[in-house]
Amino acid sequence: MHHISIIGAGYVGLVTGACLAALGMHVICYDIDGEKIDTLSKGVLPIYEPDLQYLVTNCIKNKRLEFTKDLKVAVECSEIIFITVNTPTLDNSECDLTHVYEAVRGIAEHINGYKLIVSKSTVPVGTGRGIKQMLREMLNASGNRISFDVVSNPEFLKEGSAVYDFINSDRIVIGSENEFAANIMKEVYSDQIMCGVPVLVTNLETAEMIKYAANSFLAAKISFINEMAAICELCDADVTQVAKGIGLDSRIGLQFLKPGPGFGGSCFSKDVRALAGISAKMGFRPVILDSILEINRQQTDRMLQKIKNAVGELKSKNIAVLGVAFKPGTDDIRESPSLAVINKLVEDEASVSIYDPKALNVLRKTHPGLKLHYCRNPYTACAKSDCVVLATEWPEFADLDFVRLKTLVRRPVFLDLRNVYQPSYVKSFGFYYEGVGIK
Ligand code: UGA
Repeated sequence: MHHISIIGAGYVGLVTGACLAALGMHVICYDIDGEKIDTLSKGVLPIYEPDLQYLVTNCIKNKRLEFTKDLKVAVECSEIIFITVNTPTLDNSECDLTHVYEAVRGIAEHINGYKLIVSKSTVPVGTGRGIKQMLREMLNASGNRISFDVVSNPEFLKEGSAVYDFINSDRIVIGSENEFAANIMKEVYSDQIMCGVPVLVTNLETAEMIKYAANSFLAAKISFINEMAAICELCDADVTQVAKGIGLDSRIGLQFLKPGPGFGGSCFSKDVRALAGISAKMGFRPVILDSILEINRQQTDRMLQKIKNAVGELKSKNIAVLGVAFKPGTDDIRESPSLAVINKLVEDEASVSIYDPKALNVLRKTHPGLKLHYCRNPYTACAKSDCVVLATEWPEFADLDFVRLKTLVRRPVFLDLRNVYQPSYVKSFGFYYEGVGIK
């Protein structure tokens, strides 16, 4: 049985730790935030992620998953150390590696035998090599001859289906300098590999680049279809049919071609911006990456314009917004396109009523100054509204009772920013309907 430490019990660290524990390894998670560790030790999760609670509760019970506030304990008791700390974006668009380097310093201080250090946080190309050099220098300075390896093992989990994605990965990428380290990683992932998940072993830099390229390509698909949606609106074409028509070409694929208010979440904008920054720093202007971000920025204004076109002047209008999470299945509102629209509505003095099945507490906590009417269900949010905006495609918004809705609203205007409904269906209840790239 492998003993694994996780440094950084955030979203990636927790999912990775809980899944590895469920696969039979002994996992100990450390986080700099002692309060978080106290809560986690009691089995209480700071985030909502399907299936994670079940895994954490069970793995704590059978002692496969533990939590510690002591980095020394985490480093000493494991041979494999995953670094899963957050790497936020600095004002200059560069990636802030402070927490990564803190983790490396901690490892250098407490190292007590061979360690395989797994860099799983999304980091600029060259960071893995930097970690290696930094650790070597620190150990040399203290006369410590203990050996170690550094591998890059980017994660491709999606919030809302992270546990499923971990077990059913499309691929496992291992950036390694030697076969010994790569083989340990293959043992860690042996269950997935046995089930046929392909493994790609590369050098450190290539693995780091694969992560940025993957997120940039997915974001490019979304910005591409959002641009097609804008053109479709001008020429009465239906973008959902266009997406299907091109996506059925196996070279293109159907996924990530859903138009909407733009991509959100903690990863796409951050990673595309970081890669664009890295590229520009090396003297290369990344035209596609810049355009992905520009199109995504424009989506907020395009969505706001739709609302204005439907209701006119926003001041004193009642707008009901359904959904604030950046996507369904999570309470995460970071870079949420819905929140970007809400901010603009409030700026324009609209009165905004909001309902989300999971993210309202997070919204309240993180945006205490934002003047909103928090509602208990979609119908109370829509009462007396001049416009209903479906902003996050939660399953419970897919079968709204439009007869009831019609009796509640002040004006029957339904803007479906996620193209959940067939336009003719909503119109049949007497609503004005508009989607993104369909009318
Ligand atoms: C994304 C990637 O999909 C993961 O592979 C990656 O591991 C992760 O970032 C990361 O780097 O940590 P995530 O941010 O959880 O995952 O969410 P996605 O499902 O990719 O959605 C991102 C945004 O794009 C959401 O706002 C979603 O609504 C939007 N989106 C997605 C669209 O507007 N259209 C689509 O067709 C698909």
